Amino acid sequence: MPEIILPEVELNIYSPKAPAEATIVENYVCTAEGSPNIVRHITFDISGTDLVGKFRVGQSIGVLPPGENEKGRPHKLRLYSVSSPSKGENGEKHLVSTTVKRAMDEVDGTFYMGVCSNYICNLKPGDIVNVTGPSGRRYLLPENADDFNYVFFATGTGIAPFRGMIIELFESGFKGDVALVFGCPYRTDVLYPKFFNEMAENNNNFHYIKMISREDRREDGSKFYVQTAIEDQSKILDPILSKENTLIYLCGMKGMETGIYHNLAKNGHMDYLLLRGGLEDKDPKEWTWEESKTLIKPSGRTFEEVY
Ligand code: A2P
Repeated sequence: MPEIILPEVELNIYSPKAPAEATIVENYVCTAEGSPNIVRHITFDISGTDLVGKFRVGQSIGVLPPGENEKGRPHKLRLYSVSSPSKGENGEKHLVSTTVKRAMDEVDGTFYMGVCSNYICNLKPGDIVNVTGPSGRRYLLPENADDFNYVFFATGTGIAPFRGMIIELFESGFKGDVALVFGCPYRTDVLYPKFFNEMAENNNNFHYIKMISREDRREDGSKFYVQTAIEDQSKILDPILSKENTLIYLCGMKGMETGIYHNLAKNGHMDYLLLRGGLEDKDPKEWTWEESKTLIKPSGRTFEEVY
């Protein structure tokens, strides 16, 4: 296993007290047509700020929505994963992108719209936004990225960092294996479908696995989730996970990590986990959900960002 050398990053050049001004340059829907889930790809122009060239793929950008909350205090900062590569969207250092889902919910008959996600999704080219960052110190591609293979697990907008990472890797002629395991409810919710389908068509070493949870069921009646891909798509994933120089990255819904770690362990991929509390003496097939949740931690080969 080669040493993982993480790049040095600059953090919080701009803070909520002293944010930078960015200008929206594009804002488009990045789900397939006809999806009821609205997810948008939004690009900020950070020209004229000290942020130019500073965001690394895997880091986040902060957005300060205008206005106040119900207590009369200014809305808090929200963090969004950058979905452009480190060298900028379309290779332009002053452009940073993110991927935002309009958050909406109904509680006891009242409809709520997520404050910041809807603010961002409504922005038009030319609008000015207060931004902060960069944020995130460890969720990065190694400096020696070519020394590794990658399995990326994403649910929904958790795809954001992987779009950037995959662009970054393949634009510099990456020769190893990359598997992207992406989970969403319906086929119409697949994010950036054209980009990832073309990537898979054009690169034998890019393996694109979609886990659609609400259309078909697995044989035992359970849903197709990113973690079940470890078994359902073992033909593709097993050989990659078994290599001694593979790293895994998780991004998306809290809860996915427990299922992923448990399934990795059940299938003999113990190097991605650290076990505590006597779990190491038990057969992974016997581990309960509660044990998996509390006694497994990611190892140095595993990068996790769940929310
Ligand atoms: P489901 O909601 O059918 O249970 P999105 O962000 O677009 O809603 O997609 C999130 C995806 O992650 C859905 O397919 C959702 O399935 C799935 N999901 C929900 N809970 C988990 C979990 N604990 N582990 C992995 N995937 C999950």
